[in-house]
Amino acid sequence: MRESFSTAERSAWSTLVDAIEQLSATHSLEQVIDIVRTAARRISGADGVTFVLRDGGLCYYVDEDAIAPLWKGQRFPMSACISGWAMLNKQKAIVPDIYADARIPHDAYRPTFVKSLLMVPVGIENPIAAIGAYWADHHEPDENEVTLFESLARATATAIANVSLEASLRSAAEKASAQAAEIQRAYEQTKRDAEHRLRIEEQLHQAQKMEAVGQLTGGLAHDFNNLLAVIMGNLELLLEDQTAKGQPAKMATAALEAANRGAQLVRHLLAFSRRQPLQPEPISLNGLVTGLHALLERTLGENIAIRTHLADNLWPAIVDPSQVETALINMAVNARDAMPNGGRLTIETGNKRLDDDYIALNPEAVPGDYVMLSVSDTGSGIPPHLLQRVFEPFFTTKPIGKGTGLGLSMIYGFVKQSNGHIKIYSEVGVGTTVRVYLPRAQSVAAAAPAATPASPAPVGHGEMILVVEDRPDVRSVACRQLARLGYRVSDAADANGALRALGSIDRVDLLFTDVVLPDSMSGVDLANEARRLHPSLKVLYTSGFPDAARIGGKFSATDVLLSKPYRIDELARKLRQVLDETR
Ligand SMILES: Nc1ncnc2c1ncn2[C@@H]1O[C@H](COP(=O)(O)OP(=O)(O)OP(=O)(O)O)[C@@H](O)[C@H]1O
Ligand SMILES: [Mg+2]
Repeated sequence: MRESFSTAERSAWSTLVDAIEQLSATHSLEQVIDIVRTAARRISGADGVTFVLRDGGLCYYVDEDAIAPLWKGQRFPMSACISGWAMLNKQKAIVPDIYADARIPHDAYRPTFVKSLLMVPVGIENPIAAIGAYWADHHEPDENEVTLFESLARATATAIANVSLEASLRSAAEKASAQAAEIQRAYEQTKRDAEHRLRIEEQLHQAQKMEAVGQLTGGLAHDFNNLLAVIMGNLELLLEDQTAKGQPAKMATAALEAANRGAQLVRHLLAFSRRQPLQPEPISLNGLVTGLHALLERTLGENIAIRTHLADNLWPAIVDPSQVETALINMAVNARDAMPNGGRLTIETGNKRLDDDYIALNPEAVPGDYVMLSVSDTGSGIPPHLLQRVFEPFFTTKPIGKGTGLGLSMIYGFVKQSNGHIKIYSEVGVGTTVRVYLPRAQSVAAAAPAATPASPAPVGHGEMILVVEDRPDVRSVACRQLARLGYRVSDAADANGALRALGSIDRVDLLFTDVVLPDSMSGVDLANEARRLHPSLKVLYTSGFPDAARIGGKFSATDVLLSKPYRIDELARKLRQVLDETR
């Protein structure tokens, strides 16, 4: 290379440097073409320049800058143009006289000003473009001109490679971020699904657990009822005995009171295990809440304000009213205990339809119309890990002697037995809401007649009663109670014994039988057989299972059941009810 540059050469080099700088900052092929076209003309000092792109097997004359139009926008087969030759042969073409060079398609040049040219491929291994310079006269570029042009071609190749790399990177990045968004969406959906499933499974698991505990407590309650029948029956007989006076009488009374409390506890257990006898009737919950208002105020004390929001046009509910009252009082007492420093209790009623959406989240509920009774407090709330357990019998967080842990379990059992639904919401430090959904009734019944005042227990007139009971202790108490009441008594330990007794005794007025008997014949089977033989025979059933019908067979509408444990008074009244009724 020469030692010094002319001004024109210096300017050409500086144009090249500028062009290289610009090319390094381009982001699109259009920009590259634009920069190269301008720079090529200035660097070469030619009368025209073209930018040619390889387009499959064609040379595409994308752009040009010339004193007169050349081939801008046209495509030629690679074999039929000098740019194609340069790209295919990966080398430059210096053509001082185009009409003396066989590589040149002379006809294409005849309409143009071009007499000489320089064509340089862009890219070394696999040229993807070419840059051409054209002169109107005979011109043979010197080494410096060729070097400049080749340098521009190299910079162009790099710029095109960068642009296409950038484009593919951009599209890869876009694709990756779209994929990431898709994965995130799928993940969130899966997470939601899993959480939903887990919630439902937990609820089902909880419901199953409650069912199992219910069965267990129900069985336990039955056994206790038999024990209590013996204890209470004997204590009552003892107390009625004229010889029991003074201290022994006091002791017997205390024992009887304790036994009564035991019986109450068993009733609560039976409520939880859904085996208490219920007397559902159509009632107005608004009326029930209003009726209890004064009692609740007294129970909750001055520090707790009671608010009621009773819905207009509330549907009647079909439910045992005394159980709803007990439930409401239990919920209010729980609320009071959760607000030792005072607060607010809100009682609300409303018509609610439990729809499929609700059922999807609460699979233990049954869709339909319900009358809702909700009790909210502003108390301590229940931590999430305990919330699941509050309906379990004997679950309590209260100190010994303060709570038995049967309040909510009773409500739970009663609501389930009434074909309703119960739900508890709680947040620590905010408060608790218990919502009870009771089935909707079609109409409200006329007001129930006022209870008749207690009258002395009616006595027997020597009627013959046949007692059938497999437990000797229970049987012997029953016999003594009946004798005390003025009846004649015979007894049997099972159905066969009873049938034999019926055959041998002159006249039996009433069969007093346990529903559950040993061997294959139940109390109901026995009664049916006995009535077949003695159509006028009266029957009174007894059982430690208040829903004995489920266990011992189907009762008829006229059958009367006395639940164990019973007071002697209750026995006396039931006996007269059955003996005095005319069929
Ligand atoms: N409104 C409430 N606010 C905070 N905790 C409550 C609420 N209601 C119930 N609980 C929690 O649930 C537990 C069980 O309640 P439940 O009514 O069954 O039994 P208890 O109140 O402890 O005893 P019982 O009602 O038999 O006297 C309570 O000990 C208490 O921890
Ligand atoms: Mg309670």
